[in-house]
Amino acid sequence: MSKQKSLNMALAHSLASSADAGSLVLLHIDASPRGERSHSRKMTREFIEAWKKAYPIDSVTYHDLGRNPIPHVTEAWIAAAFTPEEERSPEMKETLCLSDELVDELFAADIYVMGVPMYNWSVTSGFKAYIDNIVRINRTWAYIPDENPEFPYKPLVHGKKMFVIASRGDGGFAPGERNHQRDFQTPLIKEAFGMLGITDIIK
Ligand SMILES: Cc1cc2nc3c(=O)[nH]c(=O)nc-3n(C[C@H](O)[C@H](O)[C@H](O)COP(=O)(O)O)c2cc1C
Repeated sequence: MSKQKSLNMALAHSLASSADAGSLVLLHIDASPRGERSHSRKMTREFIEAWKKAYPIDSVTYHDLGRNPIPHVTEAWIAAAFTPEEERSPEMKETLCLSDELVDELFAADIYVMGVPMYNWSVTSGFKAYIDNIVRINRTWAYIPDENPEFPYKPLVHGKKMFVIASRGDGGFAPGERNHQRDFQTPLIKEAFGMLGITDIIK
């Protein structure tokens, strides 16, 4: 067994033992456009295999954003998302259908396992499209300027644990190291998911 694989399994075991007893719904996302060459894809698979060996999982929902990309948001999507639900036309509802499904999956799952490569110091465009589809006003966050003018975004997703496998070609991203200020992948993931209330993120 490789060093990385045994680390991955040890982490899965320790995380699983700290999770609530009982079985779980797991949301598994791969964002690498690569297939068997992808490190992040391999590691999410190994992580989930290790977890399954130790603890029951009721079901796994899977999206391969690298090989089956989801659409980026459009003007019609934005208009629909910012129209109150009861005022949406059938076309608007249709436009939001995939986004609604992705948001439903976020609520249905207990734990998220996401493989996210670094591309040009940030995430892949496919993963960014996923973020744009799940950061949904009045579904995953609410705008509350009167309550909190400093940060008027109220998270609506609670009690989730997220495990991110962030692959990179280069090194030196730790605080104080040569690439630290170029890491837009970690802060983007933390801020975007944190705004929804997903703050228990292990990377
Ligand atoms: C288009 C592209 C852009 C990349 N940009 C970066 C980068 O900015 N910094 C970095 O450290 N690695 C970068 N890499 C290397 C990938 O992060 C690395 O190959 C990683 O393993 C990809 O994930 P995967 O193995 O799951 O496909 C880039 C790779 C590609 C193809």
